[in-house]
Amino acid sequence: MDINNLMRNKKSWDEVASRFFGRNPLPEYGPMAPLEDELNLLGNVTNWKVLDIGCGSGHSLKYMDERQASELWGIDLSTKQLEAAAKTLSNSHAPVQLFESAMEVNPGLPNNYFDLVYSIYAIGWTTDLQKTFRNVHQYLKPGGIFVFSWEHPFYRLVSQKDNHFAMKISYHQEGPYDHISWQQPAIMQQYKISTYVNYLVETGFQIERLIEDIAISPEDLKRQENRWYSIAKANMIPPTFIIKCKKI
Ligand SMILES: C[S@@+](CC[C@H](N)C(=O)[O-])C[C@H]1O[C@@H](n2cnc3c(N)ncnc32)[C@H](O)[C@@H]1O
Repeated sequence: MDINNLMRNKKSWDEVASRFFGRNPLPEYGPMAPLEDELNLLGNVTNWKVLDIGCGSGHSLKYMDERQASELWGIDLSTKQLEAAAKTLSNSHAPVQLFESAMEVNPGLPNNYFDLVYSIYAIGWTTDLQKTFRNVHQYLKPGGIFVFSWEHPFYRLVSQKDNHFAMKISYHQEGPYDHISWQQPAIMQQYKISTYVNYLVETGFQIERLIEDIAISPEDLKRQENRWYSIAKANMIPPTFIIKCKKI
């Protein structure tokens, strides 16, 4: 765990949080990824105890509440995101527990407790992927499900000029990198798909699905001028990947 990077990222997220309130929450998994409605990775969550890792403004937990989950738990590093989440979830039917914490540490969550742990576009912020996976494994009941989405590790390695694509960074190079698109300094983590898969397997998860498909929505077509997520590039490389696995 890298405390300096975590502190830097916390400051950064507190500054930018409001730009991300409600961005790509469930049933979305991330930019140009198929929706949960199509993928059906979660199934029926009625009466499930669910935990959202990097819950942000709480919109995915709200989705869980609308689907009759019995308990809504969330962890996030950012005070501002959690303040927003508390507001988003103020009228929830299910009880809500929010923890201001890095996902790398257990802030006092119960073991063998959750039916579902999920994370929408947050896992690549962890400074210790193996510890984060071990934590998730601990929180889940045996047979419990872990689903997460994140930017596909190939996506940032390829630059686009008009409709030409060039590989500028090696896929083999893993570890921290500067998040350049914000004014606030922030550090993200690069891992290969095989690293995600192998760490999950080492931790005791059974992989059920790995999704690299794209789905271009009408909103994506409207937003196609977005510098980072372009449709031409998405047609070459998936912007998002999703993994579903099970605690065995
Ligand atoms: C792109 S947002 C996604 C938020 C939410 N999952 C959603 O879909 O709306 C990433 C979130 O990860 C949180 N985050 C960043 N680093 C974290 C860490 N090490 N531990 C826990 N949360 C972290 C940020 O504060 C932010 O709320």
